[in-house]
Amino acid sequence: MKIAILGSGGREHALTFSISKSNKVKKIYCIPGNAGTSSIAENISIDINNFESVYEFLKKNNIDLVVVGPEDPLVNGIVDYLEKLNIRVFGPNKVASQLEGSKIFTKNLCKKYKIPTAEFGVFKNADESYNYINNAKHPLVIKADNLAAGKGVYICREKKESCLAVKEIFDGKFGTAKNILFEEFLEGEEMSYFIVSDGKTFKYFGSAQDHKRVGEGDKGKNTGGMGAYSPSRLFNKELEQKILEKIIKPTLKGINDLGTKYRGFLYAGLMIVNDEPFLIEYNVRMGDPECQTILPTLETDIIKIFQSCIDEKLNEIEIKWINKKSLCVVLCSKGYPDKYEKNIIINNFDKLNLNENNYLFHAGTQQQDNKIYANGGRVLNFISLSNTYGEAKKNIHENLKRLNWEKGFFRKDIGYKVIDK
Ligand code: AMP
Ligand code: GLY
Repeated sequence: MKIAILGSGGREHALTFSISKSNKVKKIYCIPGNAGTSSIAENISIDINNFESVYEFLKKNNIDLVVVGPEDPLVNGIVDYLEKLNIRVFGPNKVASQLEGSKIFTKNLCKKYKIPTAEFGVFKNADESYNYINNAKHPLVIKADNLAAGKGVYICREKKESCLAVKEIFDGKFGTAKNILFEEFLEGEEMSYFIVSDGKTFKYFGSAQDHKRVGEGDKGKNTGGMGAYSPSRLFNKELEQKILEKIIKPTLKGINDLGTKYRGFLYAGLMIVNDEPFLIEYNVRMGDPECQTILPTLETDIIKIFQSCIDEKLNEIEIKWINKKSLCVVLCSKGYPDKYEKNIIINNFDKLNLNENNYLFHAGTQQQDNKIYANGGRVLNFISLSNTYGEAKKNIHENLKRLNWEKGFFRKDIGYKVIDK
């Protein structure tokens, strides 16, 4: 088979790696990919938000299956577009992708199907919002409705901060804002829970804990994700039962009631409060860096999973996992998530100890004349599988030392809740 993957991050390198292990696969294209994917696939430089150009390439190269990594093309309807042109594509359609594309869509679905989530209110302009803030309990969570690449969420400790958030959102910091979302602040511990669905049935696809803040001790600015570990320490069968019955099943029913189906990965961002799950947000794709953390523990051929989803036969297969702890540390360019330099050479790749328990997935990298340069904020993902998280961390730190990239930084405390000091 010939496969195409859309995207260029660590998640897409991990997907490409899993796909490359399938004996069904003859050729993989990454659109546009990164320096890491170019070692196992052919990178194709096309803008994935230009659906016509993507289709032209797929058609010309007789691609058998397309996997969409990031949310933007999904929310903008690439699956509907390609399916109409008879391309086999794995990912949710435009209606279903509103689960990530519009926070208000998801909140209204939660309300209708009694899915546990933070109490919320929606306002249409700044004046209504300021009125509300005057009497609101703080901390208060304020969100832009649209896709904001993980930004657009404010946790406000006092009125002044809330007013500033409202101003920034209605001033268009995250694109034109028709609405704004206010949420009650939930105090608990976060967990990422994943399923894969064919529209009729679904199966577990891992759990993880992500470290989103740039600083150690989960402090400082929000980022795309500085590291993760899987499975989440909160995960157990009893909690999973609650997540499935109270959150996942009613959500999939809600999508079915709209006359469509959810097909693809679904990522539930949860807050666990006193052993009870609350939905914080949905993403209609795998998480990044959760995907890099989870996929090395997948035993089943991923192509078999994609195909059975597209053919609505997911119930016929079993998804098997390697029973190990997985940890991922993200190496970033100094300055991230603010300003950082680009086009910085990275050496010493040949010194790394990579094998069936130790992986390297690229994110913001680019290859030129056999040399590898950093061109993004999150640059490399180091993953290790082991019987303990402590051992996995040790292996990762050894590899980071071998690479010794002086322009980079990483959080030294990833997994601190599951690793004894
Ligand atoms: P989101 O993009 O909606 O996932 O929000 C980004 C981050 O803000 C989440 O990962 C949480 O850490 C935090 N957050 C969002 N909503 C809430 C809430 N209602 N209560 C507490 N923290 C929240
Ligand atoms: N790890 C957070 C995300 O993928 O959105």
